[in-house]
Amino acid sequence: MWKRNRNSPPRKPLEAVVAAPELAGARAIPDRELYQPTFQPWHDPAFLAEIEGLRDLVTPDRLWVVRSLLQQTRRLGEVWECGVYKGGTARFLVDTLERLGDTTTLVRLFDTFAGMPESDPARDLHGPGDFADTSASAVAERVGRPERVCIHAGWIPTTFAGLESTTIGFAHVDTDIYRSVRDCAEFVWPRLAIGGAVVFDDYGFPTCPGAREAVDEFFVAEGTAVPLALHTGQAVVFKGP
Ligand SMILES: C[S@@+](CC[C@H](N)C(=O)[O-])C[C@H]1O[C@@H](n2cnc3c(N)ncnc32)[C@H](O)[C@@H]1O
Repeated sequence: MWKRNRNSPPRKPLEAVVAAPELAGARAIPDRELYQPTFQPWHDPAFLAEIEGLRDLVTPDRLWVVRSLLQQTRRLGEVWECGVYKGGTARFLVDTLERLGDTTTLVRLFDTFAGMPESDPARDLHGPGDFADTSASAVAERVGRPERVCIHAGWIPTTFAGLESTTIGFAHVDTDIYRSVRDCAEFVWPRLAIGGAVVFDDYGFPTCPGAREAVDEFFVAEGTAVPLALHTGQAVVFKGP
């Protein structure tokens, strides 16, 4: 059981250490209850309420990482999600921006909305037909906000055409297979703003060995940034000056 040491300083309220005042999320319970055994704010009932109905595939701990990075990078450029499926995380991205008072940053969503393309059996476990039970129109309806959300339906990287001069502040890359993750890294990284971040959702999952191979190969060759593997399974890469 958690005990206060008589000599320890008064504890800061949770919102003072993890959330901007605009993000009402993590205020409902005393922070000591979030030590499970280390500090895990994604267990807060207020945050779980925030993501209610949006956890299609991405777990609360990973959504917390996404939220924190979005909070840090949102003023730097567009927000992209590559690999959208049914749009749970996409909706979360837009909801979070609006909770932060941001009604203008453009959010771009890329997917076939018809399932995985061909993959490489030597590298990938996912393949054609996986994640096919969705559609662009269903995602458009679920995410809403057509004035700030652009849906790019079709094959990555073909759907990146015409966006060469874009500046990206935050990207969530969740495309699971070697070729798609590599194509995303190659297009997104040069267009990421200084101070921006990319999350590779699949990096540490045994179901997506090709995703990690793609990320590692790309950043070894690129030479200026190192993916930080998180125990959530994600890897995050920050763009420095
Ligand atoms: C794991 S799902 C994405 C999950 C989603 N981010 C969420 O929060 O629920 C992976 C998606 O990547 C998409 N995908 C993979 N490679 C692609 C490519 N080359 N072009 C377009 N979509 C691709 C698949 O169609 C699939 O919907």
